[in-house]
Amino acid sequence: MHVVLLGPPGVGKGTQGVFLTSLPGWTRIVTGDLLRDSVALGSNLGLEAEKYMTQGHLVPDELIIALVRDYMTNCQSEGNLVFDGFPRTEVQACELTKMLGLLGKSMDTVVVLEAKDQALVERISGRRSCSDCGEVYNVHTYPPEKSGICNNDGSALVHRTDDQPETVVNRLAIYKSETEPVIQYYERIGSRVCRIDGNQDVGQVRTLIAQALGLEKI
Ligand code: AP5
Repeated sequence: MHVVLLGPPGVGKGTQGVFLTSLPGWTRIVTGDLLRDSVALGSNLGLEAEKYMTQGHLVPDELIIALVRDYMTNCQSEGNLVFDGFPRTEVQACELTKMLGLLGKSMDTVVVLEAKDQALVERISGRRSCSDCGEVYNVHTYPPEKSGICNNDGSALVHRTDDQPETVVNRLAIYKSETEPVIQYYERIGSRVCRIDGNQDVGQVRTLIAQALGLEKI
């Protein structure tokens, strides 16, 4: 199965994506994480991408498409693939359709998580993520057992540099202008689009995603 997790910053794509990949046979492609890894490595791509990310702008399509193409060539996963943070523009969506088409595959379900802007800003301000396993916490609603430390592996939790309030406002505006049209793109080409109310608690959202994907539970 091929799935896109779509939604504004802070809506819970990462939180729910981690649940999905805890199931056997599921792989998650997270363009935000791939970019952050490139930034940490100081690669040419990372240096270029960082300029856009710190301001909350999208990284240019050609860089992202090359990154995903590379990843898909190397991963050669025959199992279930969930795309988190990609595609974010109509150009990226068309390219992904072509990449899957070459493999004789297509997008099965597009899960769109929705939530109010105010909730998104509050969630992002409290977010802390594990630098190793990717588990996502929230200092207000889902704190780790030990402050600043991941429950799973004891790694340090990080506060992302693009989570400053003014950058978040930019990211929300760009989601509306650049990424929402991707939903219409998938509707136009006849993909199954499931809209889920992401204002609900994490467990309820998880249940609704499981139902949308026809999974018994996640
Ligand atoms: P990326 O890393 O993809 O960030 P994003 O899409 O802005 O999404 P977030 O990671 O901020 O939020 P999320 O939806 O995963 O929420 P989370 O689960 O963490 O991209 C970063 C940057 O990279 C972009 O701005 C861009 O520059 C660049 N980029 C990446 N992909 C690109 C692409 N394809 N093209 C161009 N540029 C690209 O949850 C947030 C918080 O809320 C957590 O603390 C969590 O605990 C809490 N929470 C989650 N769900 C709930 C709930 N139901 N109730 C209460 N709290 C909740």
